[in-house]
Amino acid sequence: MKHKKIHIISWLTVNFGRLLLALVFLLSGFVKAVDPLGMSYKINDYLRSAGIFLSYDSFYTLAFAVGLGVFEFLLGVSLLLGIRRRLTITCTFLFVLVMTILTAYIYIYNPVDDCGCFGEAILLSHKETFIKNIILLLIVTYVAYKNQRIDRFITERNQWILSNYSFVYIFCLSLYSAHYLPILDFTDYSENTNIRAAVNSEEENSLKGFYLASYDGEEDETFRILSDTSYTFLLIVPEVETSDDGCNDRINDLYDFCVENHINFYGVISYSCESLADWQDRTGAAYPFLRGDEKQLRAMVRSNPGLVLLKNGILQEKWSNNNLPELESETKVIEHKKNLPLMQLLFWFVVPLLVIILLDNIWKGRKFIKLFFVNYFNKTNMRKKIVAGNWKMNLNLQDGVKLAQNLNEVLKNNKPNCDVVICTPFIHLASVYNEIDANVIGLGAENCADKASGAYTGEVSAEMVKSTGAQYVILGHSERRSYYHETAEILKEKTKLALANGLKVIFCIGEVLEERESGKQNEVVKAQLEGSLFDLTQEEFANIILAYEPVWAIGTGKTATAEQAEDMHAFIRKTIENHFGAEAANNVSILYGGSCKPSNAKEIFSKENVDGGLIGGAALNVEDFKGIIDAWN
Ligand code: PGA
Repeated sequence: MKHKKIHIISWLTVNFGRLLLALVFLLSGFVKAVDPLGMSYKINDYLRSAGIFLSYDSFYTLAFAVGLGVFEFLLGVSLLLGIRRRLTITCTFLFVLVMTILTAYIYIYNPVDDCGCFGEAILLSHKETFIKNIILLLIVTYVAYKNQRIDRFITERNQWILSNYSFVYIFCLSLYSAHYLPILDFTDYSENTNIRAAVNSEEENSLKGFYLASYDGEEDETFRILSDTSYTFLLIVPEVETSDDGCNDRINDLYDFCVENHINFYGVISYSCESLADWQDRTGAAYPFLRGDEKQLRAMVRSNPGLVLLKNGILQEKWSNNNLPELESETKVIEHKKNLPLMQLLFWFVVPLLVIILLDNIWKGRKFIKLFFVNYFNKTNMRKKIVAGNWKMNLNLQDGVKLAQNLNEVLKNNKPNCDVVICTPFIHLASVYNEIDANVIGLGAENCADKASGAYTGEVSAEMVKSTGAQYVILGHSERRSYYHETAEILKEKTKLALANGLKVIFCIGEVLEERESGKQNEVVKAQLEGSLFDLTQEEFANIILAYEPVWAIGTGKTATAEQAEDMHAFIRKTIENHFGAEAANNVSILYGGSCKPSNAKEIFSKENVDGGLIGGAALNVEDFKGIIDAWN
């Protein structure tokens, strides 16, 4: 009971932490992706503080900004849905770690005004940012430690669809925002902002420093421009040298239109711009110029050049140089556009995502429906019931073939209620395969090499085993562990090779007498599982059958009691659940091995967590083996 409670609390904590991390990353990725230029300027500020001077229009910082937003957003999606859990949480951990170090540096040395974690959407002080990152680091460390407890909302098989869709979505959004303007504007100069009111306000605010000067820098033009009750276009050119001059004709037409219709039109350049003559020659710009602060100009419109329309000191509308307005009459200027497209943005992300998840669940549901019927009609669970024979080093080829023929005959006439497998010495495999009906008896080897192929005299590879027609292989048997010194590492290699060659692995684990007597059996078995199987993916693990064989019971006539077997099997299943999740634990068959006989099989197999047996001595005789198989009837 207590264990269950701890389990629920830890599940809740991990999933709450993972959700929180997901939201933070989704938000920070999204706000960066919708304003990549803003983030690019911020990166440039960082570089400048480190003595590296690039233009604010640098392609490299922009590419980095887009990459950063996309990366964070994808981490957010993966955390939210439980995609590639180990990789996701490792990347998240490393990312938060680097950010924590960076924000510690910013907190101490104060190189930039704002860290840019959440773009312009949420501005935090350096101290707040640092504390936020410390908290995130603690959470991500905990979640990383328990990453297998993260629930998935999509099956492993279909998760790539969500990752790819999210990537395409956020990448396109980011490119669109860089090419036109941010789809959502979190700057101080969003449309409908009353700049005049902000400048004149008594209270402190971020627009207070807004200032426009005459071209020669002598006169303050702020008040005149902001008080004009008719329309004023400002063509903002924060950096003349790097500004895009592909749209000059459109701008000049626009200026002509403004002159004809008595609409004000100014170019605004930064104070640092020394000479306009060259640029005017190149672009044919005939309009008058004002000056402003470069940072402020870049905040007003994320485009170089960009266009802003003011009236009464209120920012009416803005355009990037890639979609300048075509004006036919003054009234067209007044036509206002767009509601906030947030709902549309969300729609195009969330709805396809939900559809994919729904389809995935229907796909998964097929399995559940099947499971339900199997449970309902057979009154049994989905796990395969298996009785496997392990012939060990017994029987010559002729005797082995004869035994297989007899068993085949008996089982064909009397269909077993479980899967039956015989594992034979290597030299028997191909011959036995020809004698048995593969629908009735499965065939397996007792071992395979830990190398794929090559100069390993006397060894037999997993591929060779598979080529005989065998579908199974026993690995980790205690006799191989103790007499042939097979370590967890060797068994890990063997298992990987066997699985890679399409074999199902009957993996044996179990403690020796001393370990049982000193109460260490759980510890030993857990270490055996961890040492050889915990690197497998869930898909790989689906082809593992476990066999608990207490070494003190093998071939000794001493059987573990049914209760001892059940206790250990339940523990093994729990261990699997903790690592591979509930579905894997529920599906894995766990066999009992060690002096299993017709006389004790029924009782042992009746236990909830015992799914069959791995039979040594009693598998060498059809009658005994059949007696054990019949324990499932
Ligand atoms: P046993 O052997 O049934 O002879 O005890 C079981 C095994 O080693 O797999």
